[in-house]
Amino acid sequence: MTTKTQALLNWVDERFPLTSSIKGHLTEYYAPKNFNFWYFFGSLALLVLVIQILTGIFLVMHYKPDASLNAAGVPVAFASVEYIMREVPGGWLIRYLHSTGASAFFVVVYLHMFRGLLYGSYRKPRELIWIFGTLIFLVLMAEAFMGYLLPWGQMSFWGAQVIVNLFSAIPIIGPDLSLVIRGDYVVSDATLNRFFSFHVIAVPLVLIGLVAAHIIALHEVGSNNPDGVEIKKKKDANGIPLDGIPFHPYYTVKDIVGVVAFLFFFSAVVFFAPEAGGYFLEFNNFLPADPLTTPPHIAPVWYFTPFYSILRAVTYPLFGLDAKFWGVVAMGASVVIIAFLPWLDRSPVKSIRYKGPIFKFAVVVFVICFFILGYLGVLPPTPGRTLVSQICSVLYFAFFLAMPWYSKIDKCKPEPERVNFK
Ligand code: HEM
Repeated sequence: MTTKTQALLNWVDERFPLTSSIKGHLTEYYAPKNFNFWYFFGSLALLVLVIQILTGIFLVMHYKPDASLNAAGVPVAFASVEYIMREVPGGWLIRYLHSTGASAFFVVVYLHMFRGLLYGSYRKPRELIWIFGTLIFLVLMAEAFMGYLLPWGQMSFWGAQVIVNLFSAIPIIGPDLSLVIRGDYVVSDATLNRFFSFHVIAVPLVLIGLVAAHIIALHEVGSNNPDGVEIKKKKDANGIPLDGIPFHPYYTVKDIVGVVAFLFFFSAVVFFAPEAGGYFLEFNNFLPADPLTTPPHIAPVWYFTPFYSILRAVTYPLFGLDAKFWGVVAMGASVVIIAFLPWLDRSPVKSIRYKGPIFKFAVVVFVICFFILGYLGVLPPTPGRTLVSQICSVLYFAFFLAMPWYSKIDKCKPEPERVNFK
């Protein structure tokens, strides 16, 4: 560095912790040396967040949150999305990057959460990282749900109708609550405007704040790793973890490999299959919203379907409250319960590598149930499918609620002293 650059840097450092932040979070943040591909998904989630914000900014330049009909009898909001697709230079690309980005976000976040489950990354001292993560997941679902209303297509309209109506099942406050959410007695222009406002500013701000808290908490305690060994326990004479390597340049470079692989698949979808067979963009949403024509089958987008299945699995009233209410409770509980994992897992080891056969079996059953619930959530219900989703819902909750018991009695292998790095 030339003396002039050094002088400039010193000037900044005296006023802002630039060098110390770069050291603390990059060049002297010691991460375990045994990270595998599962550790790509955190940085990929950050990448998708940036893609969504950037493409979102350009979409807002042309999109109009207006449910009134234009001269051709088409809702202005729907027409503005079509305008972006057909008339705005590169508009189709921006829109497909954003719509594919929504699904990619959930793919990446589900894999990121699953990594946490595999390696026990939620265990002490990382409980807060996990809680911030669960909050991020909740907020992300709200963000995606409100974004889906904006194109004002048939699925936007009727999906919102179904989900907002769920809130009315809550005793006493329910009907008023759904009225406040909608801003009207039906899903209308008022709903579109408030969802737009939440989708483009309020919720993203909360999301960014939570992501910052998530990473600050991570850098406070340090990263876990595939062996679940705490690298801070064994340090050299300089206080550097023996099994740690600086995040930069080692993992910044390694993460680029993940980014390239991700962009390869992501671009394949954006350019060749942006609708993903109706899973990423539902076919009914290419029709303008029509309050007088209910689509024969209303299904949420794939990333909500496991939880939607749990909602539909509850078909019995209880304690004088109807099935819809208990369905909403079960659906809410199925997400909230994830936050309690740090206290449900009583295993003496963190990583699945050293956990016993019962825990491994439970994880396999859980994943199968999650996929089945996800699949059933896109299909119209039949008595047979409802029964299967009831069984899978029970197993879903059993995975969490029985964990304190089975994680304790399971025969684990001893955790190694140092990480495995071949
Ligand atoms: C916008 C969404 C998210 C972003 C941008 C994000 C970002 C990150 C980043 C950059 C890391 C460090 C790199 C890595 O370990 O992969 C990380 C770690 C972690 N994240 Fe997230 N995350 C998100 C959502 C979540 C969610 C939903 C959960 C769980 C409910 C979660 C749980 C964790 C845990 C437990 C760690 C520590 C992993 C370890 O040290 O083994 N994250 N996150």
